[in-house]
Amino acid sequence: MKKMLIVYYSWSNGNTKKIAKMLQKATGADIAEIETVKLYEGSYQDVVDQGQREVDNGFQPEIRPLAYSAADYDVIAVGTPTWWYTMAPAVLTYLNSQNWNGKTVIPFMTNGGWPGHVIKDIQNTCKGARSICEMEIQFDPSGGDHMETPNAKVEEWIESVKRSCEQQI
Ligand SMILES: Cc1cc2nc3c(=O)[nH]c(=O)nc-3n(C[C@H](O)[C@H](O)[C@H](O)COP(=O)(O)O)c2cc1C
Repeated sequence: MKKMLIVYYSWSNGNTKKIAKMLQKATGADIAEIETVKLYEGSYQDVVDQGQREVDNGFQPEIRPLAYSAADYDVIAVGTPTWWYTMAPAVLTYLNSQNWNGKTVIPFMTNGGWPGHVIKDIQNTCKGARSICEMEIQFDPSGGDHMETPNAKVEEWIESVKRSCEQQI
């Protein structure tokens, strides 16, 4: 397999983190978490409201340096929760800070039933990258941590990621 890096952001329940870890376990890829310098504060609803303002304004929060550099990898899986029908602002910061030319990107996201245009937005932001094995995983509509997408579907996706990476050698 070509070297793969998994980069993810996760805020509410660790839903996206859970998927990222499943992918990591199956592929042996390196993994790095995106974290904002300033942590979100307040209730869930406070952050939902703040998130809406940030998405509406195209806000890109400052993020911490990652454990691994995407520049060292051919394939980068990028995972995000859905925030107001797009990627979380911290992921936008990250994607805009990298050179995607010639890279292969695997966009994956979690959502509560309103997936919007997350995958398209990731693809449009990663200019010059090839996008494969896109995946949307639904959790419960109340913002909780119950996965609605059948586990078998997620496993199937993970297998397809493994196959695609192996073919690139
Ligand atoms: C600020 C904010 C905005 C959200 N917007 C959406 C949305 O537009 N569509 C949707 O289906 N879920 C939305 N959700 C729910 C999350 O996408 C969902 O619970 C996700 O699995 C959380 O992942 P995490 O635990 O990795 O943070 C939103 C959650 C937050 C906190």
